[in-house]
Amino acid sequence: SKASNGSGNPRDFIAKMKEGKKRLVIFYGSQTGTAEEYAIRLAKEAKSKFGLASLVCDPEEYDFENLDQLPEDCAVFFVMATYGEGEPTDNAVTLMQNLEDESFEFSNGEHKLEGLKYVVFSLGNKTYEHYNKIGRDVDNVLTKMGAIRIGERGEGDDDKSMEEDYLEWKDGMWDAFSAAMGVEEGQGGDTPDFAVTELESHPPEKVYLGELSARALTKTKGIHDAKNPFPAPISVARELFQSTHDRNCVHIELNTESSGISYQHGDHVGVWPSNPDVEVTRLLCALGLYEKKDNVIGIESLDPALAKVPFPVPTTYATVLRHYIDISAVAGRQILGALSKFAPNPEAEAFLKGLSTNKEEYHTLIANGCLKLGEVLQLAAGNDLSAAPTPENTTAWTIPFDIIVSSIPRLQPRYYSISSSPKLHPNSIHVTAVVLKYESIPNERVNGRWIFGVGSNFLLNLKYAANGETAPLVATGSESKAASVTIPGYAIEGPRGAYKQETIYKAPIHVRRSTFRLPTNPKSPVIMIGPGTGVAPFRGFIQERVALARRSIEKNGPDALADWGRISLFYGCRKSTEDFLYKDEWPQYQEELRGKFTMHCAFSREVYRPDGSKIYVQDLLWDDREQVADAIINGKGYIYICGDAKSMSKAVEETLAKILGEAKGGSADVEGNAEVKLLKERSRLMLDVWS
Ligand code: 2AM
Repeated sequence: SKASNGSGNPRDFIAKMKEGKKRLVIFYGSQTGTAEEYAIRLAKEAKSKFGLASLVCDPEEYDFENLDQLPEDCAVFFVMATYGEGEPTDNAVTLMQNLEDESFEFSNGEHKLEGLKYVVFSLGNKTYEHYNKIGRDVDNVLTKMGAIRIGERGEGDDDKSMEEDYLEWKDGMWDAFSAAMGVEEGQGGDTPDFAVTELESHPPEKVYLGELSARALTKTKGIHDAKNPFPAPISVARELFQSTHDRNCVHIELNTESSGISYQHGDHVGVWPSNPDVEVTRLLCALGLYEKKDNVIGIESLDPALAKVPFPVPTTYATVLRHYIDISAVAGRQILGALSKFAPNPEAEAFLKGLSTNKEEYHTLIANGCLKLGEVLQLAAGNDLSAAPTPENTTAWTIPFDIIVSSIPRLQPRYYSISSSPKLHPNSIHVTAVVLKYESIPNERVNGRWIFGVGSNFLLNLKYAANGETAPLVATGSESKAASVTIPGYAIEGPRGAYKQETIYKAPIHVRRSTFRLPTNPKSPVIMIGPGTGVAPFRGFIQERVALARRSIEKNGPDALADWGRISLFYGCRKSTEDFLYKDEWPQYQEELRGKFTMHCAFSREVYRPDGSKIYVQDLLWDDREQVADAIINGKGYIYICGDAKSMSKAVEETLAKILGEAKGGSADVEGNAEVKLLKERSRLMLDVWS
């Protein structure tokens, strides 16, 4: 037998379970942390409902040959995200290979998991074609091998309803779990995950005030990655829209000199934002912590296997809310239920309980109203939401801080497609971000309000600060509301100079690699489709080719680009005079690329069809179909789509299928779709899209 049950093998999860008297093992396939969060929540619920302890595992850290030896009174959970085009997350690649590999043997020497009890919750995004493929694959393979699923397979849609999908699924699953495992509810209890203590005296230089890693505080050298972001000085920050009365798009150049950070065209940069001042103050007031906001606190995990302290400590209350946890998200239904017992009065308690049990009411009032946790607490207590929050106008709830720490997820970095090429800008990373601002749907309790995206408004504030500008008032453009509102402010002077040194402002960043890359051979034709900020990576692509052109011309003379393939960019925006990104740069790139680079622009609110309908990038692609088909079929060209995943990229793919179907003498549905699929498989059609 290959099974190695000898204790001491750190890759043996069964030995670990036995050691810790754990009956559940929960594997998560997670890329950005969401699946991991759900894995931890399931572990916590198993403990509070049934008193059962779990081992929450990163599958990368364990071997699977002895999965068949899981004791009979145990169960295995899989919380699996599907990534990209139906792929497993990086940490689940080996697990998936093992499960699907016909030659992979379990300790019984066979491909069997007879009687193994398992649970699957799978996470995905319905906007993408292979919705929840990985979770479904795990489920199918395990069933095929004789394992028995407990309850239904859960499926969460990240595009719309992840949290609701989870809540809806889990109760039925726990009922089935109780029956399958022979355990009763109510055997657990509310044990806190963390112990929070206020520290009387602590050396101030050892208190984390927003630093994202231990190395950032101790200033020890080390590589800069997601675990240790680099505070990048902002060397340039400007507005990209020509007329900006109600919309903004910021161009920011982040200086990476002497950081050791390198990047490639097409990579993403993760920017670590903070929460806006007003939300930090609001929640501090609602938690009754305003006066104590700068007190130094230590936080310890009471069960380190289940719940790691998610940010560096010691720190302060205000820092946790400002820099470390996601207090700007819409308040979740489950947390409202959990907090109801700390309500200041019976009405507030009933209100929160009602929201947590009545899905429709939660949906209209909280989800559509886009209410953050601090706002829900204010609303429940009858406070005025529209006034600037103060300890005087905000009711203080006595919610233990450990519950806040364990139930609000960590603030995550926001990813942007890098809009520069390292060949032209070796020491800076350019970001092109449209500033997110939308109106919430009004309801009987709360008016429609402006909701501001955290990441892009953080960048906008950095731009104002870096240029010494003051944020203007934003016109609401709606009669029913006050005439204007202020863009929320961010404390970008802190922490401890990490974001500001004299007049240099900084943003914490790290680079995430991607496979969105140009072909190495410039003879291959390239077609890029990127309306709006979807043009960002293509500015980097073009710069990459410009750098190559300069070198080639220097070496081989003015005709060096003669055999280059055609480079076409399909770009779209509202008006050539309003939101045309990098309008002044394109002519120069065209000149340097000696006519090899053509731009096709769809100005959707400037040029209309005779019947008045809009013209979009996919329409221009269709107009150019002969050249497009020739570039792809005869030229073995490459196609790239970047931008909105919901409607634009789908429409573009449909148009491509139509073009290719026609060129092949067939239909869009059959030959066209087959060709699109093939191009994707061969990495000649690549997507960098977001929803
Ligand atoms: P619109 O706002 O006038 O509808 C960048 O946002 C550009 O993409 C705008 O010109 C926008 O047009 C356009 N756009 C909106 N929906 C689109 C879609 N489904 N396909 C292609 N372009 C779209």
